[in-house]
Amino acid sequence: MKILVTGGAGYIGSHTCVELLNEGHEVTIVDNLCNSNMEAVNRIEEITGKEVAFYKVDIRDREKMGQIFNENDVDAVIHFAGLKAVGESCEIPLEYYINNISGTLVMLDIMKEHGVKKIVFSSSATVYGCPETVPVKEDFPLSVTNPYGRTKLMLEEILQDVYKSDNEWNVILLRYFNPIGAHQSGRIGEDPNGIPNNLLPYITKVAIGELPQLNVFGDDYPTEDGTCIRDYIHVVDLARGHVKAIENMKNGGVEIYNLGTGKGYSVLEVIKNFEEASGKKVPYKIADRRQGDVAVIYGDPSKAKKELGWEAQYGIKEMCRDSWNWQKNNPNGYKK
Ligand code: NAD
Ligand code: UD1
Repeated sequence: MKILVTGGAGYIGSHTCVELLNEGHEVTIVDNLCNSNMEAVNRIEEITGKEVAFYKVDIRDREKMGQIFNENDVDAVIHFAGLKAVGESCEIPLEYYINNISGTLVMLDIMKEHGVKKIVFSSSATVYGCPETVPVKEDFPLSVTNPYGRTKLMLEEILQDVYKSDNEWNVILLRYFNPIGAHQSGRIGEDPNGIPNNLLPYITKVAIGELPQLNVFGDDYPTEDGTCIRDYIHVVDLARGHVKAIENMKNGGVEIYNLGTGKGYSVLEVIKNFEEASGKKVPYKIADRRQGDVAVIYGDPSKAKKELGWEAQYGIKEMCRDSWNWQKNNPNGYKK
């Protein structure tokens, strides 16, 4: 199939492009590079030995997006483009709403104009809020507490409305748990700007000596070791989930899938696994809880297994090994 990948130069998008190309699909990337680097696109081509069409375009630019759809015979869209930092979304909510919501609206309108009615959307486990029980299933109640999360929930609802108005649309909402790791080649990976907010990029920067120590946000949660539990998933597994989603689209409908491993690890367990996988010590101190953190969340991925034939292959050791391999080989990320 010919797939348009928005945000394809980013962390999850770049890994997904590699898996799509490996499976014989054609890929066109649209990315304004606001949180990524052209070098990621070069490396997608290097890893796969295949070419991708790349457009440095903002998805809110209706005219240029129209041209891209005119020039490319698009069968389906995988939509990653968006801003994703929870803390930042509370500081600059309008930019999040304008980028994530308006960008998606422009894109959907152009898809409609061109009769392209297949879309896979990057949602997040953040839409489950603070779940009453775990593992969470796709039909659990939804709630969000910050503008970033609200953009995800609003877009899920907008996409459902689009389907209700025209049953020829195929919409797949993928709710990701915590993607970490990197491609085994060590050529593409997560390259956050500035000091990372997320756990694994922070750990790798401590391990390489760029940051002095990790702050573990709280050790008084109701878990075995007192630290929060999350469902970490290897980014290559996550990428393969998108390929399965695209290849298993039915004739019209909205489907929702959790993409996680179904296993939870505490912050201290992640540190221990990372130390074992990398042979590096990760100095840490216990700090205050971070506002908005949920004690325990992990998903039930059995619907994706049953309906898409997808299941995560990699465990926490491989995730830590590949995060470290990427960091060690690219101490400055994609910057020379
Ligand atoms: P990322 O920032 O690495 O990738 C997003 C890409 O979109 C970047 O390359 C950025 O330059 C591009 N982009 C942003 N706004 C754009 C615009 N208006 N026009 C064109 N390009 C634009 O993030 P990621 O981690 O790869 O996440 C991809 C998607 O998955 C996002 O929608 C994110 O919200 C969602 N998601 C991520 C996580 C996670 O932990 N990384 C978890 C759940 C959901
Ligand atoms: C965060 C976002 C979530 C988003 C996801 C992926 C919040 C509240 N949630 O999820 O909406 O979808 O990122 O981008 O921001 N931790 C530390 N020290 C650190 C960093 C993290 O102890 O320096 C802990 C956190 O308290 C948490 C775990 O590590 O328990 C994972 O944190 P993180 O990687 O930020 O992911 P989430 O909080 O699950």
